[in-house]
Amino acid sequence: MNDLAGKHIVLGLTGGIACYKAAELCRALVKEGATVQVVMTESATQFITPVTMQALSNRPVYGSQWDAREPNNMAHINLSREADAILIAPCSADFMAKLLHGGADDLLSLMCLARPLDRVPLLIAPAMNREMWDHPATQRNRAQLQADGCTVLGVGTGDQACGETGDGRMLEPQELLQDVVAFFQPKVLAGQHVLVTAGPTFEAIDPVRGITNLSSGKMGFAIARAAHEAGAQVTLVAGPVSLSTPRGVQRVDVKSASDMLAACVDAAQAASIFIATAAVADWRPAQPADQKIKKDGSGLPPALGFVENADILATVASSPRAQSGALYCVGFAAESHDLLAHATAKRARKGVPLLVGNIGPATFGQDDNALLLVDAAGAKEIPRASKLALARLLVAEIASRLQPSSS
Ligand code: CTP
Repeated sequence: MNDLAGKHIVLGLTGGIACYKAAELCRALVKEGATVQVVMTESATQFITPVTMQALSNRPVYGSQWDAREPNNMAHINLSREADAILIAPCSADFMAKLLHGGADDLLSLMCLARPLDRVPLLIAPAMNREMWDHPATQRNRAQLQADGCTVLGVGTGDQACGETGDGRMLEPQELLQDVVAFFQPKVLAGQHVLVTAGPTFEAIDPVRGITNLSSGKMGFAIARAAHEAGAQVTLVAGPVSLSTPRGVQRVDVKSASDMLAACVDAAQAASIFIATAAVADWRPAQPADQKIKKDGSGLPPALGFVENADILATVASSPRAQSGALYCVGFAAESHDLLAHATAKRARKGVPLLVGNIGPATFGQDDNALLLVDAAGAKEIPRASKLALARLLVAEIASRLQPSSS
């Protein structure tokens, strides 16, 4: 997916060892469909050459406000007017201070000051030693820059080039890419708290065996990411899957359906939207064995009794908060056939306003899917697309259904 297709980003580099990551970032932005114009301060050129950045961005790099290539000799005006956003990565402590005071003695700061505030957002990815980051002056600058409308993308934690360990590293290129992509998504869920379940559950038979299913968790993780991109606070309750947590999402890992139920009942207290995508096991072994069950030589399998798991979605949907309209519940239905009939029946059975149907065998483990939305008004198909694209469409559909009660 080209999430940044049609976007023109001015990528500013200031002096810091994290400049080496800016090369990868530039490549990632271009790969995602953006055009990138690199602008470097003189200090940045001490860490990485304009030649490297030109080759990766496929455009000559700008560094001086006296650059005669621009016919009107106003690079600061021309470059900033073309941009959909200015991203400064890395942004040094000194450059943050300069931005804060409206300094304008080099092309990059001049451009930031000259940009039309209402049209060209400024995003910064700070990078510095942990003491510099923690210093009250830097923290004051950060808060004031945010108050001035600048998006401060946060910092990473870990080993630093100086040998110390702590906060202040620049975020990794892929993290910054996700943040930039998220920045451009419409904030249709601002102020909402979304709870998502994802993946399979694992029901233990004994300490080394259990019952699970083929759900990969990809759809639920995509929805969690899309909800965060849409401005919501997101809690993701995940069964055993090997997927990385989407940026900005709070993840709670669980194994069994009982654990998932407990985590959801707890998190649902604060949520305003609940989206149940998890493929919860319908039954669990009645008596999981404490020790590995051994063959007894009789040739007969062990007698496993099963009990039904609680229905997490139905439990949450019947809670007073959901019944009062404070919690909007969305269910999924993984079916093998007769999708509309099963989804319609399941919507009624689960007591949810919106049920999203999909054909299980056609989607498990895949990167794409097709959805059928069933609500009180009828059914609506969302044709096959990537799970992230579908998740964004679903988030928009949910947001549109919230409007009447919140306005
Ligand atoms: N679900 C749940 N807890 C369960 C079973 C299902 O929360 N114990 C949720 C799923 O996350 C999904 C919806 O209910 O949102 C429907 O799940 P599905 O497995 O399709 O339906 P079941 O209720 O298990 O019905 P059946 O297996 O008969 O189709």
